[in-house]
Order: sequence, then C-alpha cells, then structure tokens
Amino acid sequence: MVKKIKIGLVGVGSVAHWGHIPAYQNDPRAEITAICDINEERLKTTAEELNVKEVYTDFNEMMAKSDCDAISVATWNNSHKDATIAGLKAGKAVLCEKPMAMNAQEAEEMLKVSRETGSLLMIGFCSRFGDDAMRLKSFIEDGSLGDIYYVKAGYLRRRGNPKGWFADKARSGGGALIDIGVHALDRSWWLMGKPKPVSVMGFAWNNFGDYKTKGEVYSSDLLDEKSAFDTDDMAVALIRFEGDKALFLEASWAQNIKEGLGYQEVYGNKGGAKLYPLELYTDIDYNQVNIQVPTSQVILHNAEIKHFLDCVEKGEETIAPGEDGVTIMKILDAIYESSRTKKEVFIK
Ligand SMILES: NC(=O)c1ccc[n+]([C@@H]2O[C@H](COP(=O)([O-])OP(=O)(O)OC[C@H]3O[C@@H](n4cnc5c(N)ncnc54)[C@H](O)[C@@H]3O)[C@@H](O)[C@H]2O)c1
Repeated sequence: MVKKIKIGLVGVGSVAHWGHIPAYQNDPRAEITAICDINEERLKTTAEELNVKEVYTDFNEMMAKSDCDAISVATWNNSHKDATIAGLKAGKAVLCEKPMAMNAQEAEEMLKVSRETGSLLMIGFCSRFGDDAMRLKSFIEDGSLGDIYYVKAGYLRRRGNPKGWFADKARSGGGALIDIGVHALDRSWWLMGKPKPVSVMGFAWNNFGDYKTKGEVYSSDLLDEKSAFDTDDMAVALIRFEGDKALFLEASWAQNIKEGLGYQEVYGNKGGAKLYPLELYTDIDYNQVNIQVPTSQVILHNAEIKHFLDCVEKGEETIAPGEDGVTIMKILDAIYESSRTKKEVFIK
C-alpha cells in the first residue's frame, strides 16, 4: 500500500472546515491524522467528525509528539509565526494561511527558520490558483500583453466585517487590508512578475467600527464574539515598483457602495486584461479587439492544497514560497505606516 502523507491541522475553525479539510479529503495522497485547537469544544467535535485520535490544545506538544509529515496553520494571525516555526523545526512541511504573519518582522523570522531547517514553507495565497488567474499569468509570461506597467485591484464589501478576532488588532494585526486586501495585493504583485516594491502611499480608515445594519449581513460565526474594533475597515494604496510600475489597491469590510465587488485589471503596452471573467483587450491589424477567454471553475483551496501535496510528495518548488509572503508583509506594513505618518514610505 502507498504510504499516505500524514497531515496535522493547527486551528480547526472556519477556513479549516470549508477549505483545508475538504481539500485534504479530496486528495487520495493525504490523511488527516492530528488536529490542534485552543477551543476544546471545537477540537472535540472536529475530532469526532474526522475520526481523528490525535488531538492537542498546544501546537508545541503536537509538533513534539505527532509523526505527521505536513501541517496547515489556520489559526488567528497572532499565532501563525509560532505555530509555523514549531512545525518547521519539527521537520514538518508547513502551509501557512494568509496573511503570513502580523507584520514583516515576524514573516522574516519564519522565513529564516525555513531556510535553516530546509523544511518547506508555503503561504496560502489561494487566489493565485484560479484557472482564470493562472491563464492570465501565462498570457503575461508569454509576452501577449507586453510590458505590464499598471495594475488595479480591489476587494470591497459594503457591510462585511467578520468581527470576533478579525476586528481585534492584537490577534489579527490589522483589518480589511491585511484580511482581504492581501488577496488582491498578492495576486496583482504575482501577475506583475513580482517586481521589487519601492514605495507606498497608503490610507487606512476605521469609520464604521461595530456597525449595526439591516440588509446585507456578512455571514460569520464570530458575529457575537467580543471585538476591540480597533482595526481598519477600509484601506487604499498606490504602490510604486522598480521599472516604473504602479499598483492601485483598495479593500473594505465596510463602505457606502451599492454592493460588494472584487476586481482585477492589468494594463500592458501590447494589451490589457481583466478577471472575473477573463477578458483581453488588444489590437489586431489596427482593429481594437476584445477577447473572452473560457475558463474552468476551480475550488481554490483544492488547487492550492494539491500543489502543496505535490511539493511535499515530489519535492516540487512551491509557487507561493515564504519569500513572497515576506514581500507582501513589507508592503502591508508600509501601507499602515504611510497611513499613520501621512507620508510616502520607502521599502528596503
Ligand atoms: N485563504 C482564505 O481565503 C482564507 C479565508 C478565511 C480565513 N483565512 C485565514 O485563516 C486563518 C483562520 O481564519 P478562520 O476564518 O478560520 O478563523 P476562525 O476563528 O474561524 O478559526 C481559527 C481557529 O484557530 C484557533 N486558534 C487560535 N489560536 C490558536 C492557537 N494558538 N493554537 C491553536 N488554535 C488556535 C481558534 O480557536 C479557531 O478555532 C486566518 O489567518 C485567516 O486570515 C484565509
């Protein structure tokens, strides 16, 4: 019988349940053998649901005792660093959810340990894994759009603060920007070919806090949990990259707009493109043409975790390494700093 890849889950909350668990269950190479959560009730019900015998409330104990080969870290952001480092030091391959950490300093510590131990560190940048995003990336890489000089992306909710720990800076590190803006930022930077960031002008506001609303209500099982509401609920940034490239980014948990919206636009000197759905804009024989590209629906966490398992099983290089997570955290830090200092912030 082929030996399965033993998986440990650190944090068995929402994304573990809708993202990681079904994705591991969907891949015949993987078997979830250990789980950890500080919430004992959730730990117990998840253990029953998955028929897992190894349960822990402390990830350090899990790393010391469990013989799992790889772990998913899907805890609050304030424990990504310590859980990841414990896993890497115990020789486990680690898939750490986005955002990589609370800030760039923590992210750099994680990357250092991954380099020292040689253990795989992949960051859960799931929005790279859509068929549409992958196809757009390949159009950009084969030069079809020419030089990409400007990108615009946004992830906007009208009333969508998940509340609970998300709206508590001590546990999240930040609000809408670090929670959902990170997806738009990461996907944009990756599509641009990962240019070196130079500087940032950023704004982050907390205008809504603990709002009450009728109508559109974000569905989260944390709505009743106590929050500090000390994070941003909207952020905007203009990011400059080497090679005179620019990215306009916006993210909101709450904003007075008609409806929520996710968009991704890419501008090159031979062609432009947008996602959702994927369309290309160019000239053929002096005619302006718009091209619609058929794409397949992909469950992002399934594709992400398939890639993680490929890396663990075959030693493939990950497309979302710790190095990328560090750059993204540096940009996020710079946006917050620019908002605080009201100045352009340069990134080293
Ligand atoms: N990639 C995506 O699309 C996506 C979507 C949602 C959440 N996330 C990320 O996943 C992570 C978890 O988010 P969520 O929505 O599942 O939150 P959640 O609150 O539903 O689940 C987090 C779980 O971690 C547990 N936990 C907290 N600290 C712990 C610790 N030190 N040790 C063990 N368990 C601990 C909590 O008890 C909880 O059960 C966050 O980093 C979030 O940003 C990613």
